[in-house]
Amino acid sequence: MEEAQLLDGRYVAGQIHRETMEAVQRLRRKGILPCVVFIRVGNHPPSELYVRMKQKKAQEVGIQSEVISFPEDVSQKEVLDNLNRLNLDPSIHGILVQLPLPSHLSEKQIALAINPKKDIDGFHPLNLGKMLLGEKDCFYPCTPLGIQELLKRYKIEIEGKEVVILGRSNIVGKPLAALFLQKSKYANATVTVVHSFSQNIKEHCRQADILIAAMGKARFVTRDFVKPKAVVVDVGVSRIADSSSPQGYRIVGDVDFDEIKKIASWITPNPGGVGPMTIAMLLANTVKAAELSQP
Ligand code: GUN
Repeated sequence: MEEAQLLDGRYVAGQIHRETMEAVQRLRRKGILPCVVFIRVGNHPPSELYVRMKQKKAQEVGIQSEVISFPEDVSQKEVLDNLNRLNLDPSIHGILVQLPLPSHLSEKQIALAINPKKDIDGFHPLNLGKMLLGEKDCFYPCTPLGIQELLKRYKIEIEGKEVVILGRSNIVGKPLAALFLQKSKYANATVTVVHSFSQNIKEHCRQADILIAAMGKARFVTRDFVKPKAVVVDVGVSRIADSSSPQGYRIVGDVDFDEIKKIASWITPNPGGVGPMTIAMLLANTVKAAELSQP
């Protein structure tokens, strides 16, 4: 049997970044400089890396950005005061608070405090509710949006397919289920969400035409979870110890790539699949925020 073809997130993200850059240029000609603020709290090396990557890409496409770094023990009030200030500043179009936050801060309250019109992550309940209703004048979370866009650009049909999502996080699993259920040519799927309390997980997964692994368990999805010719998308990011690597660890996904590429029809590499798409959609959302900010 032939090996699976790659759903190359780096390549597609590159295309989207070029489109975003063109949109930024159109806005600049109208005198609008799209601008995003990234907020980070404490010392969490993966979050520092993610924010650096987001900022670098923003710069490459011509979006202005600023990073606000708070110490680990910052108070909830100080974060909220800053959000209020940014909410009111018309020169700022997007605000992102990098998760996870230290346990003394309320992610829920912080998501609620961001002006929904600047919520480029799509985590505010108003945006999540609008997404559930299929509305468009709002922001959808970037990872689900990136997965849908990646499949769309490779012309992989979702309509009428059995989509099985492993994981029910508020950032990926739940909003992705809502997105694939929408009445749209790029959705209209039959969606199953399996999680830690599900029974017969493997049997559910084996029904999938499109299998999305988003539970954050290193190489959980092995060959016997996958129907031959299925499309497999790996969202997972886990660090495993690796003494041969300079950092002492290696990033692996939820999917056993080497085994599954032998039976799937399409598969995302990881890294290089969903991750770059998430950043591409974040910057596309920032441009959308800047466009919608105009009267
Ligand atoms: N942490 C992990 N993924 C994300 C994301 O998409 N947005 C934010 N703000 N934090 C995250």
